[in-house]
Amino acid sequence: MLEMHGIRKAYGAVQANRGIDLEVKSGQIVGLLGENGSGKSTLMKVLFGVVGADAGTIRFKGKTLAGHGPAQAMAAGLGMIHQHFTLVEAMSVTENVMLGAGGASPLLSPRDTARRIAEESATYGLDIDPDAIVADLPHGRRQRVEIVKAILRGADLLILDEPTSNLSPPEVEGLLAIMARLRDQGCAIVFISHKLDEVLAICSDIVVLRDGAVAGTCTATGATRAGLAQMMVGRHMPPPVARANMPAGRNVLHVVQMALTENGTARLEPITFSLRAGEILAIAGIDGNGQAELVECLAGLRAPTAGGIDLDGRDVTFASVGERMASGLAYIPVDRASTSLVTDMSVADNLALRDFDRPPLSRRGWLARNSLADRAREMAQRFTIKSAGLDAPARTLSGGNQQKIVLAREIGRNPVVLIAHQPVWGLDPGATHFVIEQILALRAAGGAILYISSSLEEVMTLGDRIAVMQGGRLSSPIDREQADITQIGLLMAGAAFHGHAA
Ligand SMILES: Nc1ncnc2c1ncn2[C@@H]1O[C@H](COP(=O)(O)OP(=O)(O)OP(=O)(O)O)[C@@H](O)[C@H]1O
Ligand SMILES: [Mg+2]
Repeated sequence: MLEMHGIRKAYGAVQANRGIDLEVKSGQIVGLLGENGSGKSTLMKVLFGVVGADAGTIRFKGKTLAGHGPAQAMAAGLGMIHQHFTLVEAMSVTENVMLGAGGASPLLSPRDTARRIAEESATYGLDIDPDAIVADLPHGRRQRVEIVKAILRGADLLILDEPTSNLSPPEVEGLLAIMARLRDQGCAIVFISHKLDEVLAICSDIVVLRDGAVAGTCTATGATRAGLAQMMVGRHMPPPVARANMPAGRNVLHVVQMALTENGTARLEPITFSLRAGEILAIAGIDGNGQAELVECLAGLRAPTAGGIDLDGRDVTFASVGERMASGLAYIPVDRASTSLVTDMSVADNLALRDFDRPPLSRRGWLARNSLADRAREMAQRFTIKSAGLDAPARTLSGGNQQKIVLAREIGRNPVVLIAHQPVWGLDPGATHFVIEQILALRAAGGAILYISSSLEEVMTLGDRIAVMQGGRLSSPIDREQADITQIGLLMAGAAFHGHAA
């Protein structure tokens, strides 16, 4: 169905694709793997006509695609689900599907469109209501709206670029089931993910990229996680990070009866917990259960409607973001690329964003350009941030490398308290390992970490104490020795809480 041959694409001096071949047959799900910056998104953007290739040929359904844009790609039967959705929040599902259908599909009336959405929703198990307003839908449902949009435009090859990165475990299960149904109906899929288990579960064939070239291909039967990881990085993966037992230190964060109500709706029920130096408190939970509200109240992006926050002996309940940062708070938001990076600014300036106004980066109001460059170089090296140069604008980096800028900046500040919201999503296995190592190193150096994740595995690996957020409530933290994975899973799914937060 699809044959890409010898695809080359350079961005200035960066060879993003250096002669890549990719074949996909109808009804086949091909996994596209590779480290951050290995060229996966670039290859898919070339296919979908978002960027033009420097060389190479594309044949799709027996026809040559060349010099095409996304509109021609869609008309030819390609669909791409981007990481950041293109939906209009204030509109209904039907209106969104009709929007931009353009010349790519015959015009249907709203009623017919709604009926078609309901039909496809039933066929593929999408479970979407044509009349729902997009703003009311959780992330996973919005993704399904994008999928139905592509199906109704007649896509017979779907490109999914990291679709599972910020889905909760049940949402991932749902998406994999939908992909299987699409495959059974003859649709082909290219699936990009850093999660090897997902790739092994759903793909029949796997293509691994390394440094802009194909490092190897294999079938999923017989492939192992270890083998794939090694193919991706070209070396053995380091052993899992060892965690030392740490005596917990003094209390550095005290949250007392903190609550948040918005437009009459309780977003956070009164939350009380404390965090000690040298400790990781891991908060498990399915996305959308108040985690974003909790961390935004702590970071100073929202004001709680009740309760208080004490940071290292200071009442910061109403302190500004800047004041909290100056008092030793660091914050890795979940949507870091859009909220924590200035994408038009250089990599070096983004790395300095939090500390440019104090020594050593600035003296008497003057920016010390040399210290700034030195530190940026050191951090880029430590976190293996791959870019065309430290002067390159952040937007030119691959998705994972943009994330690493924020991680390097926030972890590198040696904060008293680090709030890390899903810090490893979008990172390849090597980078994930590295970030976990850095978080444990911060803990060993006496830092306190609030680690929020929807991955049970991460929470169980990292937490000294583990709590669960569900429906805006926080369960009482349990020591890791007492933590039981089944029970935590049940709490995530909404089983009754017991303890002070109930
Ligand atoms: N618009 C651009 N301008 C300059 N360089 C770019 C641009 N887009 C991508 N690159 C570079 O091309 C290389 C490949 O990037 P690409 O986005 O294809 O990687 P990826 O495999 O999708 O990585 P990730 O897993 O991090 O998303 C990277 O080194 C990146 O910095
Ligand atoms: Mg990418």
